[in-house]
Amino acid sequence: MYFAIIGNHPEITLKELHQVHPKNLKQISDHLITFDTNEADKLTNIASLIKRWEVLPFEEIENILTARHCEGNEVSRGNLLNKKPKILWIADKVMGINFKKKYGMKRFKQVDILHTDLDVKKKGIELVKIPPAKGDTPKGRGAVVEYGVVLGYQNIKLYEVIDFEKPGRSMQLGMMPAKLTHSLINIALSFTKNQEKTLIFDPFCWTGTTGFLANYFGYNFIGSDIKLNLALKNQSWREESRYYQDKLFKFYEQDISKPLDPNNFADLLSHETVIVTEGRLGPVIKQTTTAEEVIEYQRRVKNLYLQFIQTITNFFGEKRPPMVFTIPIYIGHENSIEEHITTLTEKLGRKIESIEEPYKREQHKVARKIIILR
Ligand SMILES: C[S@@+](CC[C@H](N)C(=O)[O-])C[C@H]1O[C@@H](n2cnc3c(N)ncnc32)[C@H](O)[C@@H]1O
Repeated sequence: MYFAIIGNHPEITLKELHQVHPKNLKQISDHLITFDTNEADKLTNIASLIKRWEVLPFEEIENILTARHCEGNEVSRGNLLNKKPKILWIADKVMGINFKKKYGMKRFKQVDILHTDLDVKKKGIELVKIPPAKGDTPKGRGAVVEYGVVLGYQNIKLYEVIDFEKPGRSMQLGMMPAKLTHSLINIALSFTKNQEKTLIFDPFCWTGTTGFLANYFGYNFIGSDIKLNLALKNQSWREESRYYQDKLFKFYEQDISKPLDPNNFADLLSHETVIVTEGRLGPVIKQTTTAEEVIEYQRRVKNLYLQFIQTITNFFGEKRPPMVFTIPIYIGHENSIEEHITTLTEKLGRKIESIEEPYKREQHKVARKIIILR
């Protein structure tokens, strides 16, 4: 059995997790889930899992804490740890103190369940207490607690590099956070049959965040935008960071309200394609922007989204690639973009789902909502 600590958007995590076909999924508490899967190697790439790994029988935990697993050539769970961990990280104080004493660990550090710290990996071990799920009857006294060993942490560094180190970027225009883009890619991939051969298409690619992540994780990518200035500015930076040189990576100038040029976009038809994008957010909303202006901005932005869906539908015909994208939500105003998209998608005979306003922050005037079209 596996466990994961999830962040503040469980709806996104559960959608992303479809990729590993989880079975017996249980939400134990706000931030803790357990599940079975045969595709645990893919868990490394799930953006919204803060930490993860396996729930182990207590004897194995004990073996790790006493480093008995290193006797002879036997190493439990691959190369989890090859020497006795010195520091124990754990959220439960009483348990931490007891374990430290019992297993002769050098230090015990109490940590918040959501914290991540590279030191944990280098110097010690982090355990997560897994109580039984609500409704599961514990079998006898003492059988209540299981433990998970944390082996993987969210790759925050990668997201920071993409968000803050690329040469072509503009904080003012509200760049899509790389972590959210990664979640959208995973949600889209969960609908495909052969993920390794999938092509990700971002028709509002701007700085190229989706393309960077697509290639970083080994997927083909084609991007387009009405303006390619920032995508081109980031080109050499992106090429230096490419891990999968054999994967497609192309950009084209294209107004998405106009038909796609078949000469440029033939690859979209010869691959299993998914559309992942953050479309236009609209003009910047200021303190002085009036309610009437917001209605007008929404009308324009809505028209572009409807044209985008129509362009994709016309180009792909019966193929209907999954589309996962964000729309802007104007905080404190009536929002109508989703309603118009729903009417169009129902007319086209497609299914629509949405995920409520992720990443809404106090100071923000525009938030995002995720739309999933099947
Ligand atoms: C909010 S940005 C996308 C940001 C991108 N996800 C990122 O983080 O780098 C919206 C993009 O839509 C593009 N855009 C606006 N109107 C367009 C149109 N009609 N066709 C294609 N792209 C358009 C803009 O040039 C801009 O790059």
